[in-house]
Amino acid sequence: MKYNIALIGFMGSGKTTVGKVLAKSLDMKFIDIDRAISCKVKKTIPEIFEEFGEAYFRDLERSIIEEESADNNIVISTGGGAIIDNVNIKNLKNSSFVVFLDCDIETIYERVKRSKHRPLLLNSNNLLEHITNLHEKRQLLYEISSDFSIKINSTTNIYDSVEKIKNAYISS
Ligand code: S3P
Repeated sequence: MKYNIALIGFMGSGKTTVGKVLAKSLDMKFIDIDRAISCKVKKTIPEIFEEFGEAYFRDLERSIIEEESADNNIVISTGGGAIIDNVNIKNLKNSSFVVFLDCDIETIYERVKRSKHRPLLLNSNNLLEHITNLHEKRQLLYEISSDFSIKINSTTNIYDSVEKIKNAYISS
C-alpha cells in the first residue's frame, strides 16, 4: 500500500470536497495543491495566471507536487491540469495511490459555469465547447495516470465515493 492518496480529475470533478472527507475518515492530512501555491505566492490562482502566466503557475505546481509527494499519510488534491506534466505524474504515482474522479461533462459544466477562480475557463465564448475540448485532450492522461477511478455525476453521493476510494486504497 502506498503512503498517500492523490486525487486527479477535471476542474469541478470534486477533488477538494471528496479529498477533505476522505482525509478525515482515514485520519490523514489534507493538502490542496492550488491552495498551497496561492499561499506560497500570496496571490490567488487567477492573479498568478494574469501577472506571471500559465507557465509560471505550472512551474510552481510541479515544485509543490514534488515537495508534497515526499510527505507521508496525506490526501493530495491536485489541480485539473497537473497530469499534463510527466514529472507530476511520476511524482504522484511514486508516492501515492492515484484516484481519478471521472466526472461527466454536463456535471462539470453545471459546477464550473459561474466560477470566477478558474482562469482557463474565463473569457470563453462557448464554455461547454471549451470544456469538452479540454476534457477530450486530458481524458486519456487521467486514465493512464490513475490506479483507480470512479464515475461521478450530479447524483453521486460524496460519502459513497469516499467509501469506494477507501476500500480500493486499503486493498491496494
Ligand atoms: C487547472 C485547474 C485548476 C487550477 C488552475 C488550472 C487546469 O484547479 O489548478 O486553474 O489546468 O485544469 P481545479 O481542478 O481545482 O479547478
